[in-house]
Amino acid sequence: MITQKTIQQVIDIAKIEDVVGDYVNLTRRGVNLLGLCPFHDEKTPSFTVSPAKNIFKCFGCGRGGDPIGFIIEHEHISYPEAIRFLARKYNVEIEESGNTEEEIEKKLVTDSLYIVNEYAKNYYTEILLNDEEGRTIGLSYFKGRNLQNATIKKFQLGYALNAKDDFTQSALKKKYNIDHLHKLGLTTQSGFDFFRSRVMFTIHNLSGKVVGFAGRILTSQTKFPKYINSPESEIYNKSEILYGLYFAKEAVRKQDECILVEGYLDVISLHQSGIENVVATSGTSLTKRQIQLIKRFTSNIKILYDGDAAGIKAALRGLDLVLEADMNVKLVLLPDGHDPDSFLADQGSSKFTEFLETHEEDFIFFKTKILLDESQNDPIKKSMVIRDIVDSIAKMPDAFKRTLYLRQCSHMLAIDESTLVSEVNKSIRALRKSKSLERQRENEDKVSQVEDEWLVTKPIFVDKETPIIRNDAWVERAVCSILINFADKYYNLENQTTIASYIVQETSELLDFFDIELYKTIISESQNALAQGITLNAQWYIAHADENIRSFAVNALSTPYVYASWEERQMFLQTQKMPEENFIRDADNAIQRLILKKSRKLIVQLEAYFAAANEEQKSSADYELNIKVYQQLIRERNRIASILGTVTLH
Ligand code: UTP
Ligand code: MN
Repeated sequence: MITQKTIQQVIDIAKIEDVVGDYVNLTRRGVNLLGLCPFHDEKTPSFTVSPAKNIFKCFGCGRGGDPIGFIIEHEHISYPEAIRFLARKYNVEIEESGNTEEEIEKKLVTDSLYIVNEYAKNYYTEILLNDEEGRTIGLSYFKGRNLQNATIKKFQLGYALNAKDDFTQSALKKKYNIDHLHKLGLTTQSGFDFFRSRVMFTIHNLSGKVVGFAGRILTSQTKFPKYINSPESEIYNKSEILYGLYFAKEAVRKQDECILVEGYLDVISLHQSGIENVVATSGTSLTKRQIQLIKRFTSNIKILYDGDAAGIKAALRGLDLVLEADMNVKLVLLPDGHDPDSFLADQGSSKFTEFLETHEEDFIFFKTKILLDESQNDPIKKSMVIRDIVDSIAKMPDAFKRTLYLRQCSHMLAIDESTLVSEVNKSIRALRKSKSLERQRENEDKVSQVEDEWLVTKPIFVDKETPIIRNDAWVERAVCSILINFADKYYNLENQTTIASYIVQETSELLDFFDIELYKTIISESQNALAQGITLNAQWYIAHADENIRSFAVNALSTPYVYASWEERQMFLQTQKMPEENFIRDADNAIQRLILKKSRKLIVQLEAYFAAANEEQKSSADYELNIKVYQQLIRERNRIASILGTVTLH
C-alpha cells in the first residue's frame, strides 16, 4: 500500500493546470482556464480548469475532479495507479507500507497468475502465426472468416495444437508453476492441456491484462462444446468481464454508445470494419457488474441480436437490470439466421451501418409490441403483459423518462394513462420496500439509488406537479456541501468555532438517522479528524480515495450555491449576498432544517411506537425515556419551525 504521506505529497504538489495541460490545450478565461473537453466530443469549449480550487469541471458532460481524478478518468486507471502516475510526473518518491504478509502473498499469487496467462497467450499466438499446424489449420480458419493480420495480432488470437500436453510441457520447461497452470485451468488435473485443437480467443480485463481464454472447436462434431472457456480464478470473474471492452472503451466513450453482441467473432469483425464501440457478453445474460462497467463510459446501450425467437428472448432477458441502472437501451434485430458477423460479411460495412441506424428500436416499445402480439386478444394474457411492462417502467430511476414511456405505452396498450400511472406507482412502492430490505441486509447505501427514488405523482402529465423526494437527502446534502466549501472558515470568531466544528457538533446526535450513507460518512470523517485536532477541508475531500466522495466534493465546490435552493424559491436573488459571504447564515439554516426534518421523522416513529406498545412495555424504563425524548422533540420541532417561519415543508 502507498503510504498516506506519499499520497499527501502528491496531492500537495499536483497542479490541475499542469496535469490537464499535458492533454488539453488551455486558454485563460478570467481566473479560469478553458479548453475542449477530452472526455466527450465538442466543438466549443465547456471544459474549465480552476487553478485556485485545483479542480476541473466540464459543463458539457458533467465530469469534474482534482488532478488525481483527472488521471483516473483519462488513463482509465485505479486510484493507487493514478497516485503512482503523478508521483512519477512530479518525482515524488513512493513510500510503501502497511501490507500484511497475507496481502503481499496474495498480490504475489495474482501477479504470477497474470504472468502465466501472458506466457500462455504468447504461446498460442506464436503457434498460430509460426507453427506448421497452427498456420494451416488455425490461421487459415481465421483468414476464411475474413480476418486480417493486423486484427489477428491486435486481438491476440491463437491456436492450441492437437497434442496432449505440448503447452503444459513448454510451460514447465520455462519453470512455470504447475499449481498456477491448474488454477488458471490451462492444464487439467491429470496434466493434459485443457485447450486442444482449437482456435484461441484471448480475454482481457479493462486494463488489458490477460484473464483467460476461450477456445473454439473447428470440426462440426456436436458431441464437444463449440466453445470452451478458462474457469473462474482469482483473476477471472466472469460476471465482471466483457469481451472486447479493453479495445472498445475509447470508442464507447467518444461515441457515447456501447454496442452489445453475443459472440467473440462478432466483436472482432465489427471492430475490423471500423465499428469499434462493441463488446460481447459471451452468450450469457448481462450482470450488474458488467452494466456498471459499461456505465463508466456511456449510458447508451445498443443490443444487436439475431432476429429469431432465441435471439429475442436473449435480448429481453436481464434487460430490466439495464433500465434500473438508468441506461437507455436500443435494440436492433438482425434478419433471421444472421448474427452480426455473418450479416456484416453478407452486406458489407456501409450497408450494415445503415441497417443499424434505420432498424433500431426502443427496448420498452419493442417489448410492448412483442408481448402484445403474443397475447392476441386474450384478456388474461394482456393483463400479464401490462404487469410486465409496468414493472419494467417502474425500474427506471428517472421520473421524467417514466412519464414519457407511460404515455407512449398507454397508447400502444390502449389503456387509460392514469390507470397505468397508478399501476407504476404501486410497483415502485413494492420495489422500494424490497430494496430497502435488501439495503438493510447488504448495508450498501449508494446515493444514486436513494436520491432517485421519485414517485410519479398521479396527474403528472396533466398538471406539472413536481414529484416529491421522500427522504431527507437534500438537507443532508446541503449540510455536507457547506461543510466542504467552508470547513475551516469561522462560524464564530469570538470563541473560534469553525464551520466544521459547528456542523460536527450539531449533527453528532443525528448522524445515526441520516438517510444517505455518503453524507453520513463525509460528516463522520470530519468528526473523527476534529477529535484529533484536524480540520478536513475541501482539498481533502476532492482528493479522497472514495470515488463517490470525490465527485460529490467536486460538485459541491463547482456549484456552491446549489444548496441554497430553498432560498431561491422565496427570496429575490438580487438582494442576497453572494453565497461566499453567506455561509454562516446558510450553515444555520441548513442545520435547522436538518434538525426539523429529523425530529419530524422521529416524532412519527415514536408515535407509532407508543401506539403499538402493550401494557408491559408501557411500564418499562425505555418507554418513559421515549416519552421524554418525544416531548423534547416536539419542543425542538416547534421552536425551529417558528424560526424558519414555515409549515409547508415536507
Ligand atoms: P454462437 O454459437 O452464436 O457462436 O454463440 P458465434 O459467436 O457466432 O461463433 P461462430 O461465428 O460460429 O464462430 C455465441 C456466443 O456464445 C458463447 C460464445 O461466447 C459465443 O461467441 N458460447 C457459445 C459458448 O460460450 N459456448 C458454446 O458452446 C457456444
Ligand atoms: Mn457467428
